[in-house]
Amino acid sequence: MSNIVLNSVHKRFPNGAEALTDLSLEVPDGQFMVLVGPSGCGKTTALRLVAGLERPSSGTIQIGDRVVNELPPKSRDIAMVFQSYGLYPHMTVRENLGFGLRLRKVPRKERDRRAEAVARVLGLEDLLERRPGALSGGQRQRVAMGRAMVREPQAFLLDEPLSNLDAKLRVELRAELATLHQRLGRTTIYVTHDQVEAMTLGQQVAVMKDGQLQQVDAPQALYEEPVNVFVAGFIGSPPMNFATAELIRDSGLAVVFGSHRLELPSEFGSGRPALSRYLGKHVIIGIRPSDFAAANGDQAQQQAEMNVDVAVVEALGAETDIVFAAPPLETELVSHRGVWAARVSHQTRSAPGEAICLSVDTSAMYFFDPQTGKAIG
Ligand SMILES: Nc1ncnc2c1ncn2[C@@H]1O[C@H](COP(=O)(O)OP(=O)(O)OP(=O)(O)O)[C@@H](O)[C@H]1O
Ligand SMILES: [Mg+2]
Repeated sequence: MSNIVLNSVHKRFPNGAEALTDLSLEVPDGQFMVLVGPSGCGKTTALRLVAGLERPSSGTIQIGDRVVNELPPKSRDIAMVFQSYGLYPHMTVRENLGFGLRLRKVPRKERDRRAEAVARVLGLEDLLERRPGALSGGQRQRVAMGRAMVREPQAFLLDEPLSNLDAKLRVELRAELATLHQRLGRTTIYVTHDQVEAMTLGQQVAVMKDGQLQQVDAPQALYEEPVNVFVAGFIGSPPMNFATAELIRDSGLAVVFGSHRLELPSEFGSGRPALSRYLGKHVIIGIRPSDFAAANGDQAQQQAEMNVDVAVVEALGAETDIVFAAPPLETELVSHRGVWAARVSHQTRSAPGEAICLSVDTSAMYFFDPQTGKAIG
């Protein structure tokens, strides 16, 4: 068993920086867990704690069935791959792959056998006698992975291993990493600040902010049911649009914000009883860009609609993003972008400076408490 458990882990650095506050996280045996969050939220610190390169200020770290707080890195049987590959430039790929084993006094024949086996898995067979200077970024990355794999550790810790690569190679290696994990089935913690990487690689994704865990869930659950406004804004591209709105009732429920007013579907109130407590009060509403469409002008349909002045039109091929000035948002819980985006059909014709009528699928709208940022209902 090589599950990894962090239990109420707290990390304060000597200079007073609070990198992690009460982090509890369980990575089951064989799982691919992604840690994601903005720069400085404590991802690398969490990984270094698991690797044994830092000690927690309080709390416990468990690998398998033992607490490893006092165990030095080399006894933890896990391999860490850093953002900078850290290959030895004067050694060949074969020597780089076998280096960890040499330190462990594994005989040369066995070293070669394992290095060659890993090279086959990673498609590095033809490069074994080359030095890192003569490899592409992607090949170096694979050697760095290979060096971790040769040791056959219980778990892998990967800290932004793809961040030095160009976009195309990132996508290729992302797929390779996923395949590799399926084949090896080793417990893996993967750190990234890229939400697309998190969503495509993670079986579970842990979203962090300011040293605190926000939510751990399967990627689609994070997207569909974010627990708070931060997670809602972090997962999804372009990000969810937010505004401060007043929740009112006349014929049915409606939200009023800026110059807009959107009726909510009639069944809405009964589906979310918690919302009724906010009647006559402020809420933060969230609308995903993909829940807009260009209105078809069919008055009989009684759609919820917003009339906006187009600022920017971004044609993406299959879809078009219409960008317009954001309605007011009064909160510090999520960053203000100043604009909203609506993702509509590529057939929509629109230009900056023009007005456009957008319909909104209000059944897919999100609501958050303006004080705590927690999802309502
Ligand atoms: N050795 C250290 N001494 C003091 N403060 C540190 C140390 N290492 C990290 N920190 C601080 O702890 C916080 C978390 O840092 P960490 O490197 O874990 O963030 P991160 O999420 O990996 O960010 P990034 O995405 O930029 O790599 C930051 O505020 C950072 O300045
Ligand atoms: Mg980091």
